[in-house]
Amino acid sequence: QVIDCTNLTVLPGLIDPHVHLRDPGDPRVETFLGGTRGAVLGGITTLFDMPNTAEPVTSRDRLERKIELMSGQIWCDVGLYLAATKTNSVELGMLEQQENVCAIKVFLGSAKGELLVDDDASVETIMRDGARRICFHSEDESRLQERKKLFTAGGPHRLHADWHDVECAFLGTRRLAALARRTGRPIHILHVSTAEELSYLRDFRDLVTTELLVNHLTHFGPDIYDTHGGFAVMNPPIRDRRHYDAAWAAVRDGMVDCIGSDHAPHSREAKERPWPETAAGLTGVQTLVPVMLNHVSEGRLSLERMVQLMAEGPARVYGLANKGRIAIGYDADFTVVDPGHRRVIEQDWIASPCGWTPFDGYECTGWPVMTVVRGQVVMREDEVLGSPSGRPAVFSTAGLS
Ligand code: DOR
Ligand code: ZN
Ligand code: ZN
Repeated sequence: QVIDCTNLTVLPGLIDPHVHLRDPGDPRVETFLGGTRGAVLGGITTLFDMPNTAEPVTSRDRLERKIELMSGQIWCDVGLYLAATKTNSVELGMLEQQENVCAIKVFLGSAKGELLVDDDASVETIMRDGARRICFHSEDESRLQERKKLFTAGGPHRLHADWHDVECAFLGTRRLAALARRTGRPIHILHVSTAEELSYLRDFRDLVTTELLVNHLTHFGPDIYDTHGGFAVMNPPIRDRRHYDAAWAAVRDGMVDCIGSDHAPHSREAKERPWPETAAGLTGVQTLVPVMLNHVSEGRLSLERMVQLMAEGPARVYGLANKGRIAIGYDADFTVVDPGHRRVIEQDWIASPCGWTPFDGYECTGWPVMTVVRGQVVMREDEVLGSPSGRPAVFSTAGLS
């Protein structure tokens, strides 16, 4: 097979470190097959799958079951998060050594049931049992509950950003930074969404790494709520322009380690419910690379910086083995892009069964034209090729970060 890359750019395989594939769950919304098909169509070679599925990944049995279920169902390589509860820290401390585990994920707020770990004592216990970098959804749950009382149901969707306000995220992040300092455990704060957190975390770079989301780098309120309604609702929320500007400043000045999509599909019906019953979460694994390439073409970051944040960064933060760079001994994972190709993102391009994207109608300059996973061309010019032969991604737990 001859591959002609005239006028194309070959990048190390791009990684989406924040994806909710939801499997096992509701196959009308998302599946391993549909979500990873979207990933390779969008130029992603590896993704990390979140653990808050119908049966959350809280134990060895659940982890092993997920690995079995994935087999023959994934188009790209997939690393797996473990879900913390208030009672499984000892088991997770051992299980985080399993080679396919990317990290433990803790919901400090915004989660239901056993996945909510909202008190400092439980978080400290989790930090003390184990060694690898822990990932956090950082929102303060008591403040969220208090603020909810201030609003009446049925208001406009932009109230979502007032409810999950800056202090919800900032307070969560201050608590986590203090606990990281006290225990010495490295942590990764997912989807940092405020100027305040980005500035505060400057003093914690020795222990705290950060992720920003493409939605927070592309949209801002209140505009996005006026145009998208419930299809703009996510946690932490899309905020006003001040935070968007701070996020871009952070991308340029080195305060950010990873960029992810937080692909979190919900049915249209759940997104159309009146606020605050609207399901929170947006799709994004398939559109992440085109949208970021467009930001490159519009001069918001360099292609080199984009690769740092979408390949080297995730590989370093999570300890991904043999991926993240083009180097001898590394997997032959490549994303080939056409930096000058102009194309509009269209809803019916989306492979996820839920079938919608907040980027419908968004015009991109720059497009992924080929996805190569471990030497196999799995996507070429919008065609998905071969069979779903993705594997569980492998992490090196030897040199712990
Ligand atoms: O908007 C969100 N959706 N934020 C989360 O933290 C969870 C996610 C989901 O699973 O739907
Ligand atoms: Zn989250
Ligand atoms: Zn998420």
